[in-house]
Parts: sequence; C-alpha cells; structure tokens
Amino acid sequence: MLLSNIKKLPEDFLWGASTSAYQVEGANLSYGKGPSVQDIKKVPEGTSELDVCADFYHRYKEDIALMAEMGFKTFRFSVAWSRILPDGVGKVNQEGIDFYSNVIDECLKYGIEPLVTMFHFDLPAALEKKGGWLRRESVDEFVEFARILYENYGDRVKYWLTINEQNMLTLVGEVIGTSDLSGVTNKYKKVYQENHHMLLAQAKAMKLCHDMLPGAKIGPAPNISLVYPASCKPKDVLAAQNYNAIRNWLYLDMAVYGRYDNLVWAYLEEHDAIPDMEPGDMDIMASGHPDFIGFNYYNTATVEWAQEGGEAKMGDQQSGANEPGVYKTFKNPNLLRTEFGWEIDPEGFRATMREMYSRYHLPLIVTENGLGAYDKLTDDGKIHDNYRIEYLRKHIEQIKLAASEGVEMMGYCPWSAIDLVSTHEGVVKRYGFIYVNRDEFDLKDLARYRKDSFYWYKKVIATNGEDLTD
Ligand code: BG6
Repeated sequence: MLLSNIKKLPEDFLWGASTSAYQVEGANLSYGKGPSVQDIKKVPEGTSELDVCADFYHRYKEDIALMAEMGFKTFRFSVAWSRILPDGVGKVNQEGIDFYSNVIDECLKYGIEPLVTMFHFDLPAALEKKGGWLRRESVDEFVEFARILYENYGDRVKYWLTINEQNMLTLVGEVIGTSDLSGVTNKYKKVYQENHHMLLAQAKAMKLCHDMLPGAKIGPAPNISLVYPASCKPKDVLAAQNYNAIRNWLYLDMAVYGRYDNLVWAYLEEHDAIPDMEPGDMDIMASGHPDFIGFNYYNTATVEWAQEGGEAKMGDQQSGANEPGVYKTFKNPNLLRTEFGWEIDPEGFRATMREMYSRYHLPLIVTENGLGAYDKLTDDGKIHDNYRIEYLRKHIEQIKLAASEGVEMMGYCPWSAIDLVSTHEGVVKRYGFIYVNRDEFDLKDLARYRKDSFYWYKKVIATNGEDLTD
C-alpha cells in the first residue's frame, strides 16, 4: 500500500540494541562460571575462542555509558545460565548473580530499560552432558533457572525474553554449535523432542513470570523471516507454505496459541518424529500467554518446490537449506547481499511484520536486525560504516510504514550494540555501533571507538525515528 500519511512512532518506543552473553562477555570460565555448550564446542577454523570476546564482563560500565550516550531506551542482553548455575542446577554462583545485577543497575542509572534474554544458545555443558534438552527434566531445570532470575532481578527488570531463536537451535543447531547429530539415526526425532521440551519450558517460564511479577512483560524471540515462493507456480507456493510453517509458524503458534501447526505435524509424522508427550502438555503450552513478540529479522527466504529424492542440505540461520519433497532454497534475484552473502530485504521486513501481526495481534519488538561487515578502523580512529547506516535506515523506514498500517510496534534493537563474536564467522564479521579494537587472534587493546553509525543512531533516537538522514 502506498501511504500518504506516515505516522509518528509512539513516544515510548524502545530504541536500543542487542548482545548475547557468550558472544560479548568473555571471562567464560572465570568468576565461578561453569562451561556452556559454546565453551566446549570446537570453534570454526580461523575464528577466535570465546575467552575474551569484547571483554564486556570487565568493561560493561564503559559500554553502557556509550549506549547511554547514543540515547538507548533499552539494552537487550542475555544471562549466561552457567554463570548463575555453573552446573545448570543446584548451587548458585553469587558472583554471577552480582554481575548481572550490576549490569541492570548500570542500565537503570541512565534510564535504560534492561531487556533480558534468559537463554541465548548457551546451555550449561553439565546439562548437555546429561542429555541436554532431550531429557524431560530440562523443562523444570529451565523453569528453576527462570525462577532464580525473577527472584533476583524481577524488582528491576520489566521486559523478559525467553529463548533466543529456538527455531534456529532446532533447524541449524550444528552450525550454531549447540548440537551434534553425528551418529543419530533419526535426527528429526531428536531435535523435535528437544524442541518440544523447550516449548514447554518457555510456556512454563512465561506463566511463572506472570505469577511472580505481575507488572512484567515477557515474550519469545524466534528468528522470523517471511518465506516467498520462487514463482507463482502453485507448487512453489506449497513449498513456501511448508517452509513458513517449519521455520516460523510452529514457534509462534505454540508460544501464542499453544498448538502445533498442522503442516509441521504432518511433516513430523512423515519423519517418524512426533515428540513423546505427557498428558497435560498441551494445557501447559496454552498457559504461556506472551505479552509481546520479540523477533530477530535479517532477511527473507525464497524457496521453490523440491522434487523427491536428493540430499537434504543445511544452511546457516539465514541462508540456504534444502529438504527434498518439502522445499528448496532459491536465490532471490531481486535482492542485494551483504559481504557475507546474506540477502538484504527491507521490504520483506515490512511483509514479515504485517504477516506476524495479522496472525497474532500482539505488539512486536525487533530483537535483532543488522549488517555484518568487515569494518575498517582508520588511522585517525574513525569507522566509516555508511553501508550499515544505509541498511538500518531502510529497515527503520519499513518499521514506520508497518506502524502506519496498524502494526503495533514496541521497539527496535538491532544486532549489535557493540562488536562481538559472530556465531560461526568470527570477530571480523562486525555488527556493532561501537567498534572494539581487536582482530580475530590479536587482542590489541580492546579500546572502544564510535563508528559513524553510532552518531547517526544517536540522532535517530533523539528524533524518535523522524530524522533518518546522514
Ligand atoms: C542471530 C543470533 O542468529 O544472528 C545471534 O541470535 C547472531 O547470536 C546473529 O550473532 C548474527 O549471526 P552471525 O552468524 O552473523 O553471528
């Protein structure tokens, strides 16, 4: 729709940005923290270990001061489960509790609302060794972890996110380093059983949040990308519906309505992968009631019909997957790509928001969106990341259009507040507004520099998104 009236964003719109514990903190085996699955994985060749990252653990005050300088209204960060509970269950690490308590206080000092992700790709290794999310006990283990968070931080944290990109943990856990499927005979059965437990854990944690913290708001944080059919051939449309259900709607239908998507159910039946359930599971699923939907968006996906036969192929969280008989990724010729090969589709962002809102009618907060690039620090200490400004500008424009069309928009938290370690492409794939002076293996001085996008975003926030010019 061409709009002649672009409305203003709400005055309380939550402008901010995001990070996750294992990618930004460092100190991954210090101060009482137990290892997580990220700490025991073999990092992809040519990429750094996770022991220092951006050294946020030691520099959070400086970093939050920079976020305040940009005018952040919110800061999305995650809590490392194994910093709070080194073994995943049992003994609490007081130093871990204090660390996040200090981070929260530091945010509040500047009027920044903490937006806390409870779990971002870092299951405690001790739980993984016992069988991780495959065990039914994992549900209550997560809920106990949630209870500890509510008890310690619920007096100050109003906004909570449950599980970051549960859909990507399920679909591409091997790329993210959270699952090892070698030797597994029916990988569908395994990952969708784990998924079922995560869905139960999420529903219970949302209910507990409402019981313990009546003023707080909580929601899921999947990675949602509308899937386009490669053409108007009816079979391509069916393939797009398949992948939309498998990639997107399974997770949100469960979080919001507490029911399994029927296409996914049929797909699981085909793969002999219906999860084992206990009586009452679907009542638990229906008891969650999120207050909003958090979602990560990088780009859309495009698929075509996939003939029977051939090999299934996995991509990463944004690109390239094939499942014979279900869908096959198609390179969209209408879109540009980032230096790392991810498609760029701001209009698809609007289409994704429209679709989500019409399905769920809940306020939306963008919990990730951004451009990974090889930024360069100049001799005079500048980073001219005009490509990032361009990317973010085009996406914010689409938020304003979606909001003008009636989509309730709550906030925008691009990835990432500060440079950090990417999931599988190292430190050199930078996303931040704040440059961290280190290379893949040379830690240099880890000094912080304001990128051009830092100054631009500051102005965007100051004008509540009205001035998007350079
Ligand atoms: C999301 C994750 O999938 O994308 C983040 O929630 C991740 O953890 C981000 O860093 C960007 O992906 P990548 O692979 O470039 O780090």
